[in-house]
Amino acid sequence: MSSSDFRCRVAVLGATGLVGRTMIKVLEERNFPVTDFVPIASARSAGQSVTFNGKEYIIREPSAEVFRGVDIALFSAGATASREWAPIAAAEGAIVIDNSSAFRMDTDVPLVVPEVNPGDIFKADGTPESIIANPNCSTIQMVVVLKPLYDHFGIKRVVVSTYQSVTGKGKAGRDALESELAGDEQEQFTHFHQIAFNAVPQIDAFTENGYTKEEMKMVNETKKIMGDDAISVSPTTVRIPVYGGHGESLNIELAKDFDIDEVRELLRTSPGIILQDDPSARLYPMPLTSYERDEVFVGRVRRDYWHPQTLNMWIVADNLRKGAATNAVQIAEVIVAKNL
Ligand SMILES: NC(=O)c1ccc[n+]([C@@H]2O[C@H](COP(=O)([O-])OP(=O)(O)OC[C@H]3O[C@@H](n4cnc5c(N)ncnc54)[C@H](OP(=O)(O)O)[C@@H]3O)[C@@H](O)[C@H]2O)c1
Repeated sequence: MSSSDFRCRVAVLGATGLVGRTMIKVLEERNFPVTDFVPIASARSAGQSVTFNGKEYIIREPSAEVFRGVDIALFSAGATASREWAPIAAAEGAIVIDNSSAFRMDTDVPLVVPEVNPGDIFKADGTPESIIANPNCSTIQMVVVLKPLYDHFGIKRVVVSTYQSVTGKGKAGRDALESELAGDEQEQFTHFHQIAFNAVPQIDAFTENGYTKEEMKMVNETKKIMGDDAISVSPTTVRIPVYGGHGESLNIELAKDFDIDEVRELLRTSPGIILQDDPSARLYPMPLTSYERDEVFVGRVRRDYWHPQTLNMWIVADNLRKGAATNAVQIAEVIVAKNL
C-alpha cells in the first residue's frame, strides 16, 4: 500500500476532556494521516461540535454503530467507559489505544511507551493487538528516562517523589484550583483538601498497604513496561497547585557504578528526552518548561554521595501530552508506520 491510498478513520472517545482535546491538537500538529474523524463524548456533549483540521465535527455518544469502520480509536473517558466500550470498538474492527487504567495490568494487553517497548504493540504474527494500554502519566515520564539507564547500567531501585499538576485530574481538577483561587465556597474538595497554596500527599484512594492507587500504578506499571519484575520502585505521589506538567524527583540505584558525565551524555542523546542541566545558569526544568511540549525534560543530574552506584535527578513532562495524548498518538504512529 502506498502512503497516498492509506486511509485511517480515527475516533476520539472523551473528545471534550482535557486529554481528548489535547489528542485532537496532537493529531493535527503531527499531521497524523486522518481521513475521517469521529469525536465521541457523553450525552452531556452529544450534538455539540469540535473542530479538527479546520472542519467542524458533531460529537456523538458511544455506540457500536459509531465505532463501525473506525481504524484507530483513542480512548480517554475514564476506566468505566473504557471497560464498556473498548471490547465493542475492538469487535467492530478498531484498534483501541486506551488512556484509562481499565486494562493496563491485563496480561493479554500490552502497556506501551514507544521509546521503551514499541514491539509490544504487535502480536507474534506482526499484526497489532486490538486493545493497547497507555500507562499512567507519572509512570510514562519516569520510564522514558529509566530506559537508557537500564540498558547501559541496569537498575536495582528507584525512589520517586512526584509533584503533580492539578490537570492530572481532568477538567474537574483544573476547575477546582481556579474556583478555590477565586475564593468560592467549596462543597467538597476535589483534591481531598484545599489545593490552592497547598500540597496534598494523596492522589487517588489508599490501598490496603498504605500506598495510594497512583503510587501502586508506578510500582506495577514500571515492571510491566520495562519487562523486569526485579526493578523496585518506592513512590510518594503529591498533588500541587500548578498547570503545565508533573515534576518528579528520582533517586536511582544502578546495578553498576557510573561516570556522571557519561550519564548526562546518555540522557542528552536518548529519544524523547531534553537535558536542561546547568546549575551555574540556574537551568533546570520546571512545570512551565514542559507546558505544551512532547518531551521529558531532565535536570539536576548528580551523584548521590551517600549511597553507592546511585544518582539523583529531577524530571518534568506535560502530563496531558507525553503523559497521555502524545504517547497515545505515538503508539498510533508506530502502527501506521508498519502498515504503510
Ligand atoms: N489528565 C491527565 O493528565 C491524564 C493522564 C493520563 C491518563 N488520563 C486518563 O484519561 C482519561 C480522561 O482524562 P481527562 O483528564 O481528559 O478527564 P476529563 O477532562 O474529565 O474528560 C473526560 C472526558 O470523558 C468523557 N466521558 C466521561 N464519561 C463518559 C461516558 N460514559 N461516555 C462517553 N464519554 C464520557 C467526557 O465527556 P463530557 O465532556 O461529555 O462529560 C470528557 O470528554 C481518564 O481515564 C484519565 O485517567 C488522564
